[in-house]
Amino acid sequence: MKEVVFITGASSGIGKATAILLAEKGYCVYGTARNPEESPEEYNLIPMDVRQESSVKEAIKKVMEKEQRIDILINNAGVGITGALEETPIEALENAFQTNFFGAVRVIQAVLPIMRQQRKGFILNITSVAAYMGLPFRGGYSASKGALSLITETLRMETQQFGIKVCTLAPGDVATDIASRRFHTPAQENSPYPQYTASLSSMNQQVDEGADPAILAQKIYQVIRKKSPKVHYSKGKFLETFSIFLKKILPSKYFERLLMNHYDL
Ligand SMILES: NC(=O)c1ccc[n+]([C@@H]2O[C@H](COP(=O)([O-])OP(=O)(O)OC[C@H]3O[C@@H](n4cnc5c(N)ncnc54)[C@H](OP(=O)(O)O)[C@@H]3O)[C@@H](O)[C@H]2O)c1
Repeated sequence: MKEVVFITGASSGIGKATAILLAEKGYCVYGTARNPEESPEEYNLIPMDVRQESSVKEAIKKVMEKEQRIDILINNAGVGITGALEETPIEALENAFQTNFFGAVRVIQAVLPIMRQQRKGFILNITSVAAYMGLPFRGGYSASKGALSLITETLRMETQQFGIKVCTLAPGDVATDIASRRFHTPAQENSPYPQYTASLSSMNQQVDEGADPAILAQKIYQVIRKKSPKVHYSKGKFLETFSIFLKKILPSKYFERLLMNHYDL
């Protein structure tokens, strides 16, 4: 019997590459997007907006009617947000949290009763290297992904008793359309944060020069097959994943200085 995988945000980027790979590997794949036109050949693409409870419930119901089970949930839907904290509209911050944090939690809450009943399930939350550190001019993104990372630790302990495995995967930069879709706080003319504008183009360039989404898809495939997964995984260039390690071992002021130098602060 094929394992059923539910991937949020599978219309592009990492989610799409993962859906294609997992379908190739023999999984029964359901991906979601807010406005899917039609399902690709390789996998099912169904409508779901993670910001709306009714939409999440409807999508899960659709899969259950067809497959009667969901073995693996990959919480991948996410959006970017940039801006100096002082200048970032609260509404934009709320929107980022609605997708990156509450959206993932909504899907988790909808899927857990199913997995508990099966006494089997795997939940993989896609976070970011940015989840491990409050990056300048990306505070909303770091905070929403950091929150998802912490909640994963909670959930993992709470649900082990039901045979459910939970972990995160934190990608470094990946060459997807995320930069063109993210919310950019407009650069103000006389902003006290001129470094923001300068850092924007380098942030976008780093995404363009990031890893192929297919590499992340391979890592996701590896992680979901683990019998006994760790709580956190990461995948990125050496400096990206090394920065997570440096944050753990360096004196905090020293690590902060490294980041500030990088952002010209
Ligand atoms: N690219 C990177 O450098 C990078 C680095 C670290 C972490 N990540 C994380 O990796 C994940 C995938 O990002 P990506 O780079 O592949 O970006 P992407 O190409 O922009 O894909 C994002 C996906 O999320 C979906 N989505 C956005 N808002 C949604 C909502 N409200 N409800 C349901 N689906 C929604 C989009 O689908 P529709 O727009 O069609 O609905 C799309 O399929 C995200 O969580 C991102 O934060 C990316």
